[in-house]
Amino acid sequence: MKVWTHLAEWRAARATPALAGHSIGFVPTMGALHTGHRALLARARADNDVVVMSIFVNPSQFDDPADLAAYPRTLEADLNLAGGLVDHVIVPDVAEIYPDRYKYCVSELDLSRTLEGVHRPGHFDGMLTVVLRLLNIVQAQRAYFGEKDWQQLKLVEGMVRAFFVPVEIVGCATERDHDGLALSSRNRRLSREARAKAAVFPRTLRSSPTAAAAREELKAQGFTVDYVEDHDGRRLGAVRLERVRLIDNVPI
Ligand code: PAJ
Repeated sequence: MKVWTHLAEWRAARATPALAGHSIGFVPTMGALHTGHRALLARARADNDVVVMSIFVNPSQFDDPADLAAYPRTLEADLNLAGGLVDHVIVPDVAEIYPDRYKYCVSELDLSRTLEGVHRPGHFDGMLTVVLRLLNIVQAQRAYFGEKDWQQLKLVEGMVRAFFVPVEIVGCATERDHDGLALSSRNRRLSREARAKAAVFPRTLRSSPTAAAAREELKAQGFTVDYVEDHDGRRLGAVRLERVRLIDNVPI
């Protein structure tokens, strides 16, 4: 496994025959890896000759500076967890990704303004902007995104179509804990008690007859509900428990 911190060096390696003639699968992440990320890496491993992962905590997609500062940075553990599944890890610093200081960005004017976008202004513009930059840097045949972040997956698919980016976007099923809670780096910030209660969230999304009924049930169970809405055959929700924000979605 090779770790690249300078993009110029990565780009030189990307042009060599060792990489140029092979199919590349790309998994962008912000680190703090867990089994959910591993599932994306395993899928990329199965589909491609070479697997590239990026670890970049992207400042432009954080609407809250405290959230950015608190984001876990666990590079050594991440490299251990990815071991065996990944050939190249790109770990650039902010100045390498944003030489323009984010003067150029991608805006989506429809889906990104709903659901998560209402509660996290600027989040999806920052996410799309970094994903476009990373796709251009890696030049993969396929890139892998989790269905857990459904709106993110749909926006990336739309961006790739809109800008004719030559990559196939592959959506991967949500990895869940034994009780159904979607795996997330945020789960480790829940107390024992809140962690036990958190599984009520996906269960309620699934079992409620309507989105409104799910909202009421979650409130009654002590969750603060940011939204639960049905969109395009899915029920998407975001709730807070002990100030930890959880998002999830299920098919309806
Ligand atoms: P991050 O939160 O690190 O997630 C990286 C990828 O892992 C995303 O595609 C996400 O949907 C997927 N993922 C997270 N938890 C998952 C789970 N339980 N099951 C399946 N997949 C899961 O999402 C981002 O980073 C960033 O927005 C990024 C795309 C890297 C751009 O900065």
